[in-house]
This record gives sequence, C-alpha cells and structure tokens, in this order.
Amino acid sequence: MIRVAVVGAGLVASHYAAGLQRLKRAEIEPYGVPLAKFKVIKDYVEEEVVSAYDVDANKVGKPLSEVVKRQLEGVVPVPPDVPDFEVREGVLASSGAGLDKMFPVRGRDQKLPLKEAVEEIAKEFKSDNVNVVLNLISTEPAEPFGDEGKLAKALERGEVSAGQAYAFAAYLAAKDSGKPVAFINLIPTPLANDPAFVKLYEDANSLVLGDDGATGATPLTADLLEHLAERNRKVRYIVQFNIGGNTDFLALTIPERNLMKEKTKSSVVEDILGYDAPHYIKPTGYVEAIGDRKFVAMDIEWITFNGLVDELIVNMRINDSPALAGLAVDLVRLAAALLEKGVKGTFYDVNAFFMKNPGPKEARNKARIKAYYDMISALRELGVIVE
Ligand SMILES: NC(=O)c1ccc[n+]([C@@H]2O[C@H](COP(=O)([O-])OP(=O)(O)OC[C@H]3O[C@@H](n4cnc5c(N)ncnc54)[C@H](O)[C@@H]3O)[C@@H](O)[C@H]2O)c1
Repeated sequence: MIRVAVVGAGLVASHYAAGLQRLKRAEIEPYGVPLAKFKVIKDYVEEEVVSAYDVDANKVGKPLSEVVKRQLEGVVPVPPDVPDFEVREGVLASSGAGLDKMFPVRGRDQKLPLKEAVEEIAKEFKSDNVNVVLNLISTEPAEPFGDEGKLAKALERGEVSAGQAYAFAAYLAAKDSGKPVAFINLIPTPLANDPAFVKLYEDANSLVLGDDGATGATPLTADLLEHLAERNRKVRYIVQFNIGGNTDFLALTIPERNLMKEKTKSSVVEDILGYDAPHYIKPTGYVEAIGDRKFVAMDIEWITFNGLVDELIVNMRINDSPALAGLAVDLVRLAAALLEKGVKGTFYDVNAFFMKNPGPKEARNKARIKAYYDMISALRELGVIVE
C-alpha cells in the first residue's frame, strides 16, 4: 500500500480521491493517467488516501467523503468508499493573506508558533506512516531559500509559506522515522527548485518532485514551441489567455498569487526556443459561470523561409482539475517506486514531463514530447518501468 496525505482538500484533491476509487472499482478507464499502459513496479491500486489537511473552516473537521461530494456534486459520481476520516486543520504560515476573502480560515498556527505546528504535523505524518504527500493547496506567494540555514531561521520566525511548511514537516517525519517520504509539489511554490529543500530531502533519503503540475495549455505550448524551434522558425510573439471559474482562478485574482503562476508558465519560452520571444502567458480572469472547464486561447506568430509570417491560433476548453488529478495518480506511484530504488533529492526526468517548472533549480524546461521519451528510458534503466 502507498499511504498518501493530501494537503489542500480542493477540487483537484477531490478528483484524485474519487477518481482513484473509481479506478479501483474499474468504473472508469485510466484515461488521463499518462503511464497507465506501462507496467510500473507500483500499481495505482496500491494508492490509499490516509489523511487530508485544509484551512477552510467549512472543510476542517468534516469527513473527507462529505467534502469531496460537496465539490463534485453533479460533476462525476462519487463512489461510497471515498475515505471518511476528518479533514485536519493545516497551517496558514505566511501565505494566508487574501484567503479569508474566499472562505473563513483557520490554522493551527493561529494558536501555536508555526514551528510547533509544523512539528505536530510531522508527528502525524510519521504516525500515519505516510509515504507520499501531495501538495494541492491554493497558489501562494513564496521565494526559494537557497540554503538550509536560511530556511531553518525563517521557520523559527514563522516566515515560510504554507507549502514550504508542509514540505518541512514531511522532511522532519522522514528524518525522525528513518523512513523515506516523497513530497509531490503540484503548485508553483519553488521546492524542487529550491536547493535548500532538495538538500534536506537528500539527507533524509527522501524525494521532492515539482514544481507546479503541467496540465492544460503549458505542455501544449511547450510542444508547439519545440515544433517551431526544430524547424528554425523565428517566433515573433506568443500570447496565451486562460479564463476559469474554479476557486483556483479566484485565488489567482489576488495579485501576488497570480505572479507565481506567471513565473512558472513563462520559463517555458526561453528554455525551449533558446531566446526570450515577447510573450504574455498567465491566468487572465475569473468568471464563475465558466466553471472548471477553463477557456484557453493562444496566438503564436513566427517568421518562416523568405521572411514570410505565419500564425497559429488555438482555442480550447479544458477540464482543469481532473487533468492534474490524473497526473497525480501516476506521480504518487512513481514517487513510491523511485524511493524504493533509492532515488533521493529530486528527479529531473520525471519533473521535466509532469511539471511546469521542473526542478532542480538549474534544470531547463523541455518539450513534453521529448521529456516523455527521456523519462520512459530513465524509468526503464532504473527498473521502475519493467515492461
Ligand atoms: N489543472 C489544474 O487544476 C492545476 C494545474 C497545475 C497546478 N494546480 C494547482 O493545484 C492547486 C489546487 O488546485 P485546485 O483546483 O484543487 O484549487 P482549490 O482552490 O479547489 O483547492 C485548494 C485547497 O487548498 C486549501 N488551502 C489553501 N491554503 C491552504 C493551507 N495553507 N493549508 C491547507 N490547505 C490550504 C483551500 O482551502 C482549498 O481547499 C492550486 O495551487 C493550483 O494552482 C492546478
């Protein structure tokens, strides 16, 4: 069994928890789970959600099954065996700003110093025998620390983001128990891109994968740019709009939070083209009625042979949250398999395919089509994919 703690019991977490049970019951095909057709040494049926954390007072203390049902009502059927343990209170850390405009907030660090709250969560990860932590909290402003000393001091002062606080808790659990833990960071906070966290995880024989799951337009943009780069077409500009109606988009109407997305989405341009073509790539708006099936529009113009100009326009509607939940199904079992093979720190080959801003810090973004084949061969070499 792969024991999973979910941090942030939102829409993606709900699709993950419900979709996993539906997969186990063979109610759905594993579409949207990239490696479903390969034999991986860990099967997704081994994944089990054992705890969940949130800071929304309407979710904390409620059974997870109820929280999932509330969020997926009328969207997909929720199986009766979604776990019904209570969602635990998380920490707000330095990233609580603005959340109270969306829902009533509560966090343990309102009563305890942040460091003690983090130690408490570490104890829970340890006693729950958590193997993998999935970070699915709202996008938050955060900066990398660079070295462990600075991180430790910031934690003393309560000046780390919530994502950083949970990642530290998972590291503490691994260090204290001597059992490796994998932390999968699906939000833009730099963790796999922060040498401080990569070093800590390495020291605890553990693994941090990240940062920010690559689902909708970013991987498509990366592949389109690769197509143009391979043909030596000179990109004149790229603009991309994203309009959604889920709470993730609502959170992104808070300026510092939007900036984080812009950073992880934009690194794709220079990394793939080799030059920084003028671009505008960021979540642009929130319209509640559009729901989770976001609208993406993209326009790319380039110079072709003989100086002529071509243009590509893409319009699409994408179910946002299930896309990331499908990736999480694979990431959890891959993380468990990589730990079993002794991989520690972070693992670029998996990050490069699954993440918008693949760690470690010095690593570049590459086209997903290339990243996919590189990842398959790396996983075969390690014996993680066996057939
Ligand atoms: N395709 C995608 O949907 C996609 C792609 C890439 C990344 N992401 C990221 O995944 C994350 C989750 O997306 P979502 O659609 O589920 O959003 P959501 O708003 O539905 O869920 C986020 C949850 O996190 C909780 N939360 C906020 N701060 C917290 C804290 N400090 N501790 C614990 N819980 C906290 C919120 O209360 C909420 O329940 C977002 O950060 C988003 O940027 C999503």
